[in-house]
Amino acid sequence: MKHLGAILWLTGLSGAGKTTIAHNLDQKLQTRSYPTEILDGDIVRIYLSQGLGFSKQDRDINVRRIGFVANLLSRNGIIAIIAAISPYRQVREELKKTSTKFIEIYVYAPIAVCESRDVKGLYALARAGQIQHFTGISDPYEEPINPEIICQTDRFTVEQCVKGFARK
Ligand code: ADX
Repeated sequence: MKHLGAILWLTGLSGAGKTTIAHNLDQKLQTRSYPTEILDGDIVRIYLSQGLGFSKQDRDINVRRIGFVANLLSRNGIIAIIAAISPYRQVREELKKTSTKFIEIYVYAPIAVCESRDVKGLYALARAGQIQHFTGISDPYEEPINPEIICQTDRFTVEQCVKGFARK
């Protein structure tokens, strides 16, 4: 059976829930026999973008690399699920233009909620000045203007968010 690939690009603050949603979505699609792959910022930064930091320039390189791999996957029928902060609008728009079936998903929770979750303890370090250029604290996050889907993880459960995708 020939599958149609796609890129499901989850963007949002650290702690907004991108990785959790990516894995839930991945499981649901695999259960329905869709071939999928997850590209997660934290993992990509170990294997594909090691050595890159968090300046605008480095983030743009990281995001373009992820976009490149996502395109290779999607054109071979795989649904590439991306979980990366990808804070800059311009490079996301660039990828949208150069990819077929690029679906932008804004995983949103207010910064105060992300900070209160502080799953990795990074917000505390950023507030203490021990991490510089931390997205949402000391570095910008440019919200998507017209995302195909918005997941409000402070208002809905992961299940509700992912079920909402099916209606789109
Ligand atoms: S992106 O901006 O280049 O898209 P990416 O999603 O790959 O970021 O990586 C973000 C992850 O790196 C965060 O989830 C967090 O674990 C970690 N991290 C470390 N330093 C920072 C920082 N200064 N800003 C944001 N995330 C950081």
